[in-house]
This record gives sequence, structure tokens and C-alpha cells, in this order.
Amino acid sequence: MSKTGVMKTVYFDHAATTPLDERVLKAMKPYFTEHYGNANSAHQRGNKAKVAVEEARETIAELIGAEPAEIIFTSGGTESDNAAIKGAVNATGKTEIITSPLEHHAVLHTAEALKRKGVRPVYVEPDADGIIQPEKVAEAITDDTALVSLMHVNNEIGTINPLKEISEVCEARQVPFHSDTVQSIGKLPVDVNDLGLDFLSISGHKIYGPKGIGVLYMRHATPWLPWMHGGSQERRRRGGTLNVPGIVGLAKAFELCVEEMQQHRAHFKQLRQHLVTALDDTFGGRYQVNGATEAAVPHIVNLAFPNTQGGLDGEMLLLNLDVEGICVSNGSACTSGTVEPSHVLDGIGLKPEVANSSIRISMGKDNTTEDIDFLVEKLEVVVNRMAKATPA
Ligand SMILES: Cc1ncc(COP(=O)(O)O)c(C=O)c1O
Repeated sequence: MSKTGVMKTVYFDHAATTPLDERVLKAMKPYFTEHYGNANSAHQRGNKAKVAVEEARETIAELIGAEPAEIIFTSGGTESDNAAIKGAVNATGKTEIITSPLEHHAVLHTAEALKRKGVRPVYVEPDADGIIQPEKVAEAITDDTALVSLMHVNNEIGTINPLKEISEVCEARQVPFHSDTVQSIGKLPVDVNDLGLDFLSISGHKIYGPKGIGVLYMRHATPWLPWMHGGSQERRRRGGTLNVPGIVGLAKAFELCVEEMQQHRAHFKQLRQHLVTALDDTFGGRYQVNGATEAAVPHIVNLAFPNTQGGLDGEMLLLNLDVEGICVSNGSACTSGTVEPSHVLDGIGLKPEVANSSIRISMGKDNTTEDIDFLVEKLEVVVNRMAKATPA
């Protein structure tokens, strides 16, 4: 509790969502109040909005090495994933999609839903570190493959897939390649030509931008048909009145993250080192980091406490930490609230008791080493208290 009686809270759930950057809010504001026109309207106010949308489109295209016409605005990462997968299946009429068991539910549940249309999802197994090896993708591709969809950075364990090598495999078999880059955009360099991507998904709220806005990149001439229908917006590829403040905010947020990427990365590496040292000092061999530690982004750390007497329940750990003023997650944010074990931790072969004792710490640019000290201090209190209360 602070001197003012307000409880101190520290947020370590940036992979779930980030706060809006003040500079982004400033860029968005005029498009709520002054320039509120519909970007499709033929008058001055409409035009003002349309100019802002087209400027944002150019900015985003440039940041990923694309053409502006290859950018489609959507409502977020979930819609972009749906659009890429369903659109490719619609256009090719082929009956297989290749993905992995570690994808976000926006991809997994889309793939499952397509079974009703006679499409077979094929799951490439990751290695023990949680990385998809290109040779496995090559083995899975057949003449019936409509699309390969594999994420760049995993939202739960932070591992990085070798997209460039996977795209070479896809290109050799002329199969379009989609990547959910929701967790890598603004954190790692993402260029659609360097990485060989035909589709890519972006979400605004993971990069200090607004919620409810996203982008689908679609390479020119890639077979694709719309999966939802409406007005003529976005060259008839995605109907619906454009979310002008959201679009302006997403472009600004993305631009800032790319400008500050090196600085943020160095900061995250320092924070991660500080965290690991503090955890080693406090817990010794009683904790482990789940997933790869080298081929991973530094700001996502998935921790388990497998050797605590009687085992620890990650859901209880999360709730106890919340009471102590620490916000973390156990598994994907979009599924928290349910008590199912994480499909990602299960997918990398963790025993259920280890997976169930895990929490995800995802750091943000404004976290400090003092925040890490606070986290480890509270973790020690909570883990020891829970261990005492758990029967051996
Ligand atoms: C990897 C990944 N893909 C997709 C999404 C969904 O994005 P949105 O919340 O913008 O729909 C998330 C959000 O948790 C994510 O982490």
C-alpha cells in the first residue's frame, strides 16, 4: 500500500494487451471529434478521413516492405487470421491447411471450424523448445495444401519460428504462407519480402495502439476471396465503415515501436537478466522457464514451479499475485477465465502438473528493474504461502 492508501500494482501482462501510448492517443483524438467523417463519403469531411486512412496505409506498408494496396484494415488479429485462412481456402478450393498445435485460438479454432466444409487441418509438431522446424513443414505439404499458417512469436512462451526458412519451403511448393505476427510486430524486424510472407496479421493493441483495429497484409496476386461481405470498402475485400481513429492510431503506434525497437529490446534483455538472476537467488532449482530461451523474445517469460511440494496451481498463483498487486497471466489471455490447461504448454510436451503450475510474465517498455524486484518479492511470498498450504 502506498502512502496515499492506494495499492501499488505492477502490470506484467503486455502480451495480453498494452496501454495506449500518449502520443498515439494524441494522433487519434482529432479523428473522434473534428475529422469524424466517413472515409467513404464524397464530401470534405469524408475526404479528410480518407486522406488520414491512406497515409496510415502507406506508413504501415512501408514498415513491412509492402505496397499500400496490399494492406487491408480489419478489426484485429482474430479477424486477420480468419480472413487469411478462410480467404485462401475459398479461393483455392483445396482441402488441407497446415498449421501447428501452438497457434493462437484465432488460427486453431478457424482451422477446426473449416472441418465442417471438408477442410482437413494438418498440425506440424514443434520441437521440445516449441519451435517449428522447416523440414517438418516440407513433409506435411501436399498438392491439396491451400495454405500454411504459422505464427512468428508465440504469445505464451515467446519462441520465434524460423519464418524465412519455412517460407522457402512453401515457395518451392507454391503454397501461400500466412503468419500471425501479432506478437512480433514492433518487437522484431518484419519485412514481408525478407521473410517471404504472402499473408500477415497485425493487431493494434499489442503495440501500444488501440483495441479493435488490425491489418491483414495480402501479397498482390495471391489467390484469395473475401470471407465476409458488405460495402465496397478496402477494394471490396473487407466491407464495413473504416475505423479511422483506430487506423490512425495503429499506424502511429507501429511507427513508434519500430523507431524505438532497439532501445526497447536492450531494455527487455536487461530486465530479463535481472529477473532470471533474482529468480535463481530466490527459488534456485524450484522453478523453470518453459520453451526456448535463445530463440525467444526477451519480454515474454513463461515460468513453472514444478518442484514445489505438492505442486502449485497456476490459476491460484495468478489470483494470489493479483491480490498482492501483480498482474500476470496463466496461458493465453483470450482463454483465461477458463480452467483448461494451456494448449501451448501441452503442445511442447510439459506434464499437466508442470503446465498447470505455470504463469506468463510479459514485460512492457515502461517496466523497470524495481518492478521486477517487486514481482520476485511477491512471488516468493505467494509461492511459499501456497506451498505450505498444499498437502504433500
Ligand atoms: C498471437 C495472437 N494472435 C491473435 C491474437 C488476437 O488478436 P486480437 O485481440 O487483435 O483479435 C492474439 C491476442 O492475444 C495473439 O496473441
